[in-house]
Amino acid sequence: VDAKIMFVGEAPGADEEIKGEPFVGPAGQLLTKMISGMGLSREETYIGNIMNWRPSMPNQSGAEQVGNRPPDGEEMSYFLPFLRAQIEVVSPQVIVALGATAARGLMGLDAFRTLGEVRGKWHEFAETPLMVTYHPSYILRNQSNRSKRAIWEDLLQVMEKVGMPITEKQRGYFLGR
Ligand code: URA
Repeated sequence: VDAKIMFVGEAPGADEEIKGEPFVGPAGQLLTKMISGMGLSREETYIGNIMNWRPSMPNQSGAEQVGNRPPDGEEMSYFLPFLRAQIEVVSPQVIVALGATAARGLMGLDAFRTLGEVRGKWHEFAETPLMVTYHPSYILRNQSNRSKRAIWEDLLQVMEKVGMPITEKQRGYFLGR
């Protein structure tokens, strides 16, 4: 809770629901790798979500079940006070929104049309600098060095912002083809 960097994702998936912890499935394992690339452990950061439980997705006959879909505007605004409370407790130096849903949840549903408009730039939420980057699941779908480098450049900006040392090796990650 005294983390300098707070990551905000979308909503828990099946693995997260079982463990009761955010980002522990495949996307979470990649997030953990990204964090260790920054020279940190997961425990040194704070990881949260725009919504804290799995979205309801009733089946065709209307029976209650949950699934993977982005939270809608109503769900996000219901959860926002809980996220704000977490931000107040942690008081991070930087918030990182992972993907378009987290970015919309923090910046407003109509703040942008495509993630490219806001990604890699500094914004603000709760008087805290906000960096918007891709969701790690984007990298799971696009394993090119180009997409890895894009997210990495955003994280380098985050490291600079919080005054972390950056090695030459770190500066050069994913520059090859
Ligand atoms: N994806 C998210 O956005 N959040 C999680 O907690 C897990 C996967």
